[in-house]
Amino acid sequence: MKDLSIGMFDSGVGGLTVLKEVKNLLPKENILYLGDTARVPYGNRSPQTIIRYAIESALFLLTKGIKLLIIACNTSSAIALKILSKKLPIPVLGVIEPAAKSAVVATKNKKIGIIGTKATIKSMAYENAIREIDPHMEVLSKPCPLFVPIVEEGLDKDEVAFIMAEKYLNEFKASGIDTLIMGCTHYPVLEDVIKNVVGDHVNIINTGKETARDVEACLRERKLLKTKGMGTCKYYVTDDPDTFKEIGGRFLGYTVSPVKYIKSLDYKDFILH
Ligand code: DGL
Repeated sequence: MKDLSIGMFDSGVGGLTVLKEVKNLLPKENILYLGDTARVPYGNRSPQTIIRYAIESALFLLTKGIKLLIIACNTSSAIALKILSKKLPIPVLGVIEPAAKSAVVATKNKKIGIIGTKATIKSMAYENAIREIDPHMEVLSKPCPLFVPIVEEGLDKDEVAFIMAEKYLNEFKASGIDTLIMGCTHYPVLEDVIKNVVGDHVNIINTGKETARDVEACLRERKLLKTKGMGTCKYYVTDDPDTFKEIGGRFLGYTVSPVKYIKSLDYKDFILH
């Protein structure tokens, strides 16, 4: 059981920011990563669709034999964590609770900002997770949908990134938040730009980093930590592997390989074959 892989899925390439942190903290673990690149982005889709996609991705990884599932996508975590935790026979971790916990610990003035996709912000999943820990927290949230294509196009150092960050994040400056959750897989790539706009005094919470700590704790508690040998990563995508390799390589700073193309995530297909 210990030697089984950790499974993780995302709508596409963004979840590699979570993979990076898990690999840093748990280098001995084997990881199977699924990026549903044929159907990205999830962030503007309806809850029914996001849940269907999440079930398909989770079942695909389950058939590969995994000991724990990470929902590396904020949008999927916000909408589908409850249902996947209930249905799957293995532990399931999303990225929302770990980041919410860490933000509550970090804030001194109880004012937290959240940025994410439209679906994540509309779900109120971050607000609910924060208020469950401390009902007195003041929370200000804002969708920043253009950050995703800016990052995927490799424009994170370009003027357009600064212009959009000013536009999206200006209201956080006046609000007096002292902590900001980057509630989307792609935003860690923009961390410097975001910091530049909101100011150095604001704690920036990286959901991948926080999730990696919870993954470690969960595996340790269940005595499922792999203790020997170096871990490997295998990647599955539902669209062109070369595009994933190119953008993924930029996210991780090293070559993303091996990447295998999956024709369909329809679970009937992989249950039957
Ligand atoms: N992975 C998504 C998230 O973290 C961002 C990209 C998308 O919209 O699918 O919310």
